[in-house]
Amino acid sequence: MNLSRLLERLQSADSVCVLTGSGISAESGVPTFRGEDGLWSKFKPEELANFDAFIRNPSLVWEWYSYRKKVMKEVSPNPGHEALAALEHMVSDFTLVTQNVDNLHRRSGSSRVLELHGNIERSYCIDCGRFVRDVVIPVKPAAPTCEHCGGLIRPDVVWFGELLPQEIFTEAEEAARRADVFMCIGTSAVVYPAASLSLVAKDAGAFVAEINLERTDLSSRFDETILGRAGEVLPSLIIEFRLLKEAHP
Ligand code: OAD
Repeated sequence: MNLSRLLERLQSADSVCVLTGSGISAESGVPTFRGEDGLWSKFKPEELANFDAFIRNPSLVWEWYSYRKKVMKEVSPNPGHEALAALEHMVSDFTLVTQNVDNLHRRSGSSRVLELHGNIERSYCIDCGRFVRDVVIPVKPAAPTCEHCGGLIRPDVVWFGELLPQEIFTEAEEAARRADVFMCIGTSAVVYPAASLSLVAKDAGAFVAEINLERTDLSSRFDETILGRAGEVLPSLIIEFRLLKEAHP
């Protein structure tokens, strides 16, 4: 693994933006979306993660989300998440954009996180819009309802056919456009508009590096692809970056 080009760019960067996907949480034990062990292979999320399915059968959708919430609660952030939390303090303008809903970036100490696809720990009422942090899921077959208006509560995650939260995406685009270095970590880069952020950064002149187990559809557009596990590459990157900063303050 050769990190020298990326390190050189990081050293002179005023602004860094990072986009993460489910690959960064794989080493924590959260299944990725499209891998062999992915959630996609065990369930058919497109049949469950959409609003029509929810209205048709809210308790079934909640059963699936209860399972996912449980999986995500039982896992812990890994050295990849921790390295990004450390990087936030080493760069003056740092933005972490994630497609993950597992909350592991915040749990590892990152404070400036833009969640493009929501957060599985939050829910809201589809009628009055009130947010609920730790929703109490009734015993099957009922779905949780709002204690204020009785409306159905849904997880605060983006479902198939739904738009991304516009303000958050705009903020992410601005961070990508400002970035001197953009890192695309553990994402297959096939789901838009999230995947477009790396191209926004590239077009605006950023050095774009990808860290992934394998090359992706967008690799040929990037300046660097570092093949490896995020939980190994990122801690090495931080150690070397710290040494460089100490040597050339
Ligand atoms: P994918 O499952 O599509 O891609 C995961 C990527 O992570 C793959 O390219 C793997 O090679 C890579 N990977 C796996 N383990 C890794 C590791 N330890 N270190 C580095 N890379 C690793 O997941 P996403 O790209 O996150 O959207 O999927 C994007 C979106 O698709 C999700 O947010 C979800 C889904 O539709 C919504 O739910 C709205």
